[in-house]
Parts: sequence; C-alpha cells; structure tokens
Amino acid sequence: MQNDVLEVLYSEQQIQDKVKEMGELITRDFEGKNPLVICVLKGAFIFMADLVKRIDLPLETDFMAVSSYGASTKSSGVVKIIKDLDISVEGRHVLIVEDIIDSGLTLSYLIDVLERRNALSTTIAALFDKPTGRKVDLDADYKGFVIPDAFVVGYGLDYGEKYRNLPFVGILKPEVYSH
Ligand code: XMP
Ligand code: MG
Repeated sequence: MQNDVLEVLYSEQQIQDKVKEMGELITRDFEGKNPLVICVLKGAFIFMADLVKRIDLPLETDFMAVSSYGASTKSSGVVKIIKDLDISVEGRHVLIVEDIIDSGLTLSYLIDVLERRNALSTTIAALFDKPTGRKVDLDADYKGFVIPDAFVVGYGLDYGEKYRNLPFVGILKPEVYSH
C-alpha cells in the first residue's frame, strides 16, 4: 500500500506535533467552556481521536456523516446528511473537526445547519486547507497545514475508501487513479 504513495507530505511525527499544538490552542481559547466536539466522518476520524486527547476541557463528542466524494477526487457540490448527531447543539459551543477544506461547500452547509439548530457558536478545526479550491467564503479557525491543490491520502483521508490507515499523509502515484 505504501508503494502507491508518490510522496510523503507530512510524517506521523509532524502530524502529531501539529495536532498537539492545535489542541493546546483550543484548550486555551475555550477555557471555562465545555464544547461539543463534532467529528465529520469519515475522513476526520483519526484526527478527531488524536485532537481530543490534546484538549484539556470537559468536552463532549459526537459524530456526523455527510456525503463525500465517493470514488472521485472532485466535490459534487451536493451535501447530504448521512448520519446525524445524537446530542443537541442548541445553546452549545460547537467545535467542528474536519480533515480537509477544499471548496468549503461541506462546512458552509454544516455550519448553516448547526446555526439553524441554535448552536451558541461554531468553530472549525481542520487539519488541512486547500485554499485554491475554495468556492465559498469560509476559513478554519484552527488549521494544521495549508497544502497545494493535490489529492492527499492517509491519516483518515481516503481514495475509494482505501489508504485511511496510513499513519502519514501523502500524494498517490498517478497510475493508482487509472485502476
Ligand atoms: P469541500 O470541497 O466540501 O470538501 O471543502 C471537503 C471534503 O472533501 C474531501 N476531500 C478530500 N479527501 N483527499 C481526500 O481524501 C483530498 O485531497 C481531499 N480534498 C477534499 C474530504 O472528504 C473533505 O471532507
Ligand atoms: Mg471528509
């Protein structure tokens, strides 16, 4: 599987260091609050698991699944809730944990939903940001790495549901896409 990777962009250690840093910032900024931390499935599941361990607050966690790219590498622009939250966001400080922001369509839709459900505040933590792909005006409050417009896999990120278990993040070899 590692043979399918053209280039490692971020090593396991680099990611861990960044996640720790983000967790410390969030801990400081949310002092005195008990945020509801929402993982956007599936891509953010590993980031979520590592991040919450670095946040020293009485937080709660919940999970939401929205339509993804499927086996393609481009956003359809259509966002659909596949699995909804169990915990009410009403009156809560919500921290949305996302793997990567590309067009921004997924998160702007989610924020809209959460605000209509009367969340007290919505904050975004994204491990990766691809600003060149943006189609709506949206930015992460906490971001790990800004990356060029390449399709990346590993550390939760997939191509056709594979490669999520790579401990690092990398770019696939072009021939993998044509299989
Ligand atoms: P938008 O365009 O709505 O997209 O900001 C966010 C979602 O698109 C997926 N995405 C990727 N998934 N490698 C992936 O594995 C990538 O390089 C990539 N770029 C975008 C991802 O699911 C994210 O939640
Ligand atoms: Mg995702």
